[in-house]
Amino acid sequence: MVERVIIDTDPGVDDLAAIYLAIASPELQVEALTTVYGNIEVDTSTRNALSLLELAGRTDIPVYRGASKPLVRQAYFAKHIHGNNGFGGVEAPNPTISEEKTSAALEIVRRCNETPNEITIIALGPVTNVALALSIDPSLAEKVKRIIVMGGAVRVSGNFSPVASFNLASDPEAARMMYESGVPIVQVGLDVCTKVRISKENLDHIREAGNRPGAFLLEAAEFRRKAYVKVQQSSATETGVFFNDVPAVAYALWPELFDEQPAFVSIETKGELTAGQTVAEFTGQWGHSEPNSSVLMGVDGQSVAKQFANRIATLEDTRSKIK
Ligand code: RIB
Ligand code: CA
Repeated sequence: MVERVIIDTDPGVDDLAAIYLAIASPELQVEALTTVYGNIEVDTSTRNALSLLELAGRTDIPVYRGASKPLVRQAYFAKHIHGNNGFGGVEAPNPTISEEKTSAALEIVRRCNETPNEITIIALGPVTNVALALSIDPSLAEKVKRIIVMGGAVRVSGNFSPVASFNLASDPEAARMMYESGVPIVQVGLDVCTKVRISKENLDHIREAGNRPGAFLLEAAEFRRKAYVKVQQSSATETGVFFNDVPAVAYALWPELFDEQPAFVSIETKGELTAGQTVAEFTGQWGHSEPNSSVLMGVDGQSVAKQFANRIATLEDTRSKIK
């Protein structure tokens, strides 16, 4: 059965990769993109959402602009990883399509009320839009089929702080609202994202396919790859790249490639050094006998990377259509 999805996103090089995987996959019906600040300002993420759809020939997918800042904190951007324009400095064509007039949060509420329990939200940025939607309509928690969220770091280091991931630490109060709402959550955190390395062979496969959206992704990815080498001081990414948002979409497609464990996840909001941490109880011994999340803790990273490249290779070559 085809899964209906709204992708909440801050594109972002790895959002670009993840959205292209979704668009290339007949198992998913991408019904809307909702944008949020995160890697860059929401003005840029909204423009990028429109551009990436244009590049892929999917101007039929509507884009709704969302939050420009966290619920109570200052926004923190990740331009050192994604470039000032979010696409690693690579110029995207000017979009010929426009964003819709409704806000992201209102549109999430409207669509999920229209067809309860049918829409999955794949959240690839700070979860402010989700929290706003839940505060507009708390019954939304029973109307969303599930939220697959890229965020969290349980047994590995964070990428915002030693213990917290960028997306959840960007707006810990929003993340806490989401985890406490009762909505079914699949947490696709750094525990698995750091194990899905898109290798040189995978990238070459995309290059050989030669389609326009794939070529754009490869160009943008090069900035990210170099940025990772710099911040991690590691040779692990010298011939490959990590797209943290890809495993969230990959889970929707191939859950059998992941090891998932039920857990009760709480979000730290008070800690000076730990805000946004995902505190995961797997055993129930700390007072929570019922899980609120399914936490991904293992992955067949090579298979995900291979399937990802195979799918990107099938995207339409829109070269003749893009001005
Ligand atoms: O740099 C961290 C960010 O990159 C996160 O937003 C993640 O979703 C990816 O886009
Ligand atoms: Ca993202």
